[in-house]
Amino acid sequence: MRKKITVVGAGNVGANCALRVAEKELADVVLVDVIEGVPQGKALDLLQSGPVQGYDVHISGSNDYEPTANSDICIITAGFPRKPGMSRDDLLLANYEVVKTATENCVKFSPNCILIVVTNPLDAMCQAAYMVSRFSKNRVIGMAGVLDTARFRTFIAEELKVSVENVTAVVMGGHGDTMVPFVRLSNVAGIPLTELLDKAALDRLVERTQNGGAEIVKHLKTGSAYYAPSAAAVEMAESILRDKKKVLPCAAYLEGEYGINGLFVGVPVKLGARGIEQIYQIKVTADEQAMLNKSAAAVAELVEVIKKKMAS
Ligand code: LAC
Repeated sequence: MRKKITVVGAGNVGANCALRVAEKELADVVLVDVIEGVPQGKALDLLQSGPVQGYDVHISGSNDYEPTANSDICIITAGFPRKPGMSRDDLLLANYEVVKTATENCVKFSPNCILIVVTNPLDAMCQAAYMVSRFSKNRVIGMAGVLDTARFRTFIAEELKVSVENVTAVVMGGHGDTMVPFVRLSNVAGIPLTELLDKAALDRLVERTQNGGAEIVKHLKTGSAYYAPSAAAVEMAESILRDKKKVLPCAAYLEGEYGINGLFVGVPVKLGARGIEQIYQIKVTADEQAMLNKSAAAVAELVEVIKKKMAS
């Protein structure tokens, strides 16, 4: 059976997800968007790239969800993007409605799918998708840690003038200004980062990572990042569909891990055919725990707003 991925949202993130899925020949793609003509037009354009690029997958676009039936994975990217000066949290209630509708439809047509949530504010949107879908926690996964880690790795590689392939980094916590780049666990070909950079440089790279999304919004002025976010979402989809069991930082529903209960927060997980197959609970220092707690508290505040909205 051919695999099928639904991408909800045919904006820059969604369209680039579809392109990356096609280029990896991971699955057929259905691109869904509420704007008439946009998913159809972009899907047809992507399909027509196949003969040149050498990929053989089917890509279609739709304004409704019927063609998405029996998708293996639904990637939810739909939502309003951040404008300059706007925090991810400003997007909360507007995007809650978008994610709620998308989740309801994904669940209706693909009851066995795995949901990968990309819409911001990320961790709160994961919680919305989890509550609305009533899926088991292994089947609702948030994309953010892979992106945040990719940014941290990029900045480390640039700073040290080494191949980014040698750089392994860990970022945990929520996808916001309170995210927690773990300097202690990041390394270059196994050499701890702390041996290679002084505290001032490390602090600078950590701060740039925490503001990585905003830095791009500031440049673009009318939108937010999409090349790296789509790359990150598709790396997660690939690990699931090919059962690669990659260990990636993702937003996962925690039930006591890291002392966090009933919240989506970014932690290292194993992604395989069943979605999240393992959450890695590692020992953290008191300082790291304090930063994680702060990040979780920021997520909890947003989730409270959503829960109130759901109850109203
Ligand atoms: C970013 C936004 C999209 O991190 O959250 O680029």
